[in-house]
Amino acid sequence: MKKLMAANWKMYKTREEAAMTIASLKLAVGLPPADREVLVFAPFTAIECVSACLGGADGYAVGGQDLYPAVEGAFTGEISPGQLKDAGATWVLTGHSERRHILGESDELVGRKTAFALSQGLKVVLCIGETLAEREAGQLQAVLARQLKEGLAGVPGDVSAADLAIAYEPVWAIGTGKVAGPAEILEAHATVRAQLAQLLTTGSNLRILYGGSVKPDNTAEIISLDNVDGVLVGGASLQAESFSRIVLA
Ligand code: PGA
Repeated sequence: MKKLMAANWKMYKTREEAAMTIASLKLAVGLPPADREVLVFAPFTAIECVSACLGGADGYAVGGQDLYPAVEGAFTGEISPGQLKDAGATWVLTGHSERRHILGESDELVGRKTAFALSQGLKVVLCIGETLAEREAGQLQAVLARQLKEGLAGVPGDVSAADLAIAYEPVWAIGTGKVAGPAEILEAHATVRAQLAQLLTTGSNLRILYGGSVKPDNTAEIISLDNVDGVLVGGASLQAESFSRIVLA
């Protein structure tokens, strides 16, 4: 399967800034290499505009950064899978560490969002990862196992590997400039792979992305590691210049 090179723009960019970034990205990357797929998780207000700027270009897709697990209803401030799809999104993120740790999302809610998004025809990148305190307390394996078990609780065991990817993002590496080393990435991704194989019949085929201070100059090494099937990039995805170098690394 193609490597998934994903940008997470978080709460950055007006529509005009988003359009300019996508135009520059398409110029710099052109048709993505045959083994790469480019995905941009845009803020809700910019999804439609990113989708229009991409204009159905091969190898590119746009996603939302969150969803609420209901078709519609009295959920002020929330957004449904149908609304995301209406704006042009084909993917959505669930369980990003900023939603878990700043907005207080539980494993259980992340699981409901993941299963509901898939049931409504969105593809999902489910994010997991340990905090520094959890790592130092020797809880890496247990945290990843719990987040995967609960995050995938309602997901059909035979979910298509094209529709679901996992992003391993150690919380201590997000936005800190502290990238996990090759040994740490290998260990965590092997753990995720083993858990996935137990939880889903398609688990050995799912893509596992690494996220946390990915930059143009560390991407090639990271994506060459075993069980690393792409990257999820925050800060370095905001500028087309650096994200295009990541996509082409
Ligand atoms: P970062 O963010 O690349 O800025 O560390 C990654 C993420 O939050 O997905």
